[in-house]
Order: sequence, then C-alpha cells, then structure tokens
Amino acid sequence: MDNNFKEGYDFENHWNNAYQKTPVNKLGWYEKESTPSLELIALCNLSKNAQIFNAGAGASILIEQLLNEGYSNLVVNDISSSALIELKNNLENHKNSQVQFIVDDLTNPTELLKLKDVDLWHDRAVLHFFTTQQQQNSYFNLLKKVVKPKGHVILAEFNLEGAKKCSGLDVFNYNEKMLHERLGEDFELLKSFNYTYTQPSGGLREYVYTLFQRKN
Ligand SMILES: C[S@@+](CC[C@H](N)C(=O)[O-])C[C@H]1O[C@@H](n2cnc3c(N)ncnc32)[C@H](O)[C@@H]1O
Repeated sequence: MDNNFKEGYDFENHWNNAYQKTPVNKLGWYEKESTPSLELIALCNLSKNAQIFNAGAGASILIEQLLNEGYSNLVVNDISSSALIELKNNLENHKNSQVQFIVDDLTNPTELLKLKDVDLWHDRAVLHFFTTQQQQNSYFNLLKKVVKPKGHVILAEFNLEGAKKCSGLDVFNYNEKMLHERLGEDFELLKSFNYTYTQPSGGLREYVYTLFQRKN
C-alpha cells in the first residue's frame, strides 16, 4: 500500500506502533554502535557543550554514545513518544544528564520552531521517509531556520541503489548531490561516503552519509 500518499495517513501512530510492537534491537534500523555517524561527528571538532540536534532519533544508541563522549547539550526529537520513552529508559546510566526530548513532527513543526543556534543537525534514516515536496520543504525550512552559521549537518539516507521501502513506507532515495541541492549553496559538502548497513535480520541497506557545513 502506498501509505505515504494516502491522504491523512497517521504517521505518529505508525511509528508508535513500530516501537511498541518490536524490541529496539530487532528493528530494521537498529545499530549496536553508531560508528559512521560518530566518525563524521568527530570531524566537526565540536565543543562538548555544542548544541547537537538529533532529528527523528528514535531509540538510537547514538545519544548514549554522545553522552559517553562528554557531549552535554543534546536535543532529541521524534514524532513517536514511544520511541523517546524507550530512549529515556535506555539512558539509565545518564540520569543526571541534560537531554532535551521533543516529540514533534519535522514536517509540521510546532515545538521545534523554538530551536535556535544548532551546532550540529544529525539525521540518520529520517528524511528519506518524506516523499512529498511539501514534507521535504518543511523539513529543509526548519533545518535552515535553526542551524547556525558555521553549523554542521549530517544527513544519512538510503542512497540511489538503496531500498525503496522501510517499515512498510515508501522512501525517497538520495545521493550527495541531491542533498546538497536541497541545502543550497550556503552549505559546503565536507565529506560523503556510501555505507552498507546490516540489519538485525541480516538484510543489507545502502546508505549515503554526508557532512555539510553552513557557510554564513
Ligand atoms: C528508521 S527510524 C531511524 C531512527 C534513528 N534515527 C536511528 O538511526 O536509529 C526513523 C525515525 O524517524 C522518526 N520519524 C518519522 N517521521 C518523523 C517525523 N515526521 N518527525 C519526526 N520524526 C519522525 C520515526 O519515529 C523513527 O524513529
């Protein structure tokens, strides 16, 4: 079923169901370690109190890994409150850490509009679910509104050879040129690479990882 184009499809419910029905370590996007993301984050030379925004973070291990590395200003978003509850529960060892959790829709933001001066926008496997121009425009408008001059952007999405569906939803595939076009000339591409991710089921998923920096 072409869910993405079904008028009024309830994406919040879709993603809450995904997190409620399947243990996190069995989800088709689960990573034991967020190695390629951390590799790119290291290149940003961020201070430990830099504001790192995780768009559609789900219950990703990346947050715990960033806290372990001493990053102290993390803002974590998802459309699914179930995902963020799960993530919070998994951060037992970091009870005193200042992580801000924001349940909001990246394609129709309300709370997220209050963000500003983001040093790093990180998205793995989220943007590719936005298949309409309207969803994509809202996403990039938000990104451009909140990322500060000289701020960094990491976008890791299914590449052109990659899967056409995930979690039962259609996806929009990218290469680094397409991502650069969407960000515009104000952003410089610092690094990109293709990466084959292995799912818990053993399936392979082809991603393109990109790191951009805003000029001014
Ligand atoms: C494939 S998962 C990736 C999760 C996480 N980034 C990771 O790498 O493990 C896609 C995530 O995007 C979230 N998501 C989907 N649509 C969203 C939207 N419109 N706004 C915010 N989050 C969304 C989902 O709830 C889900 O957690």
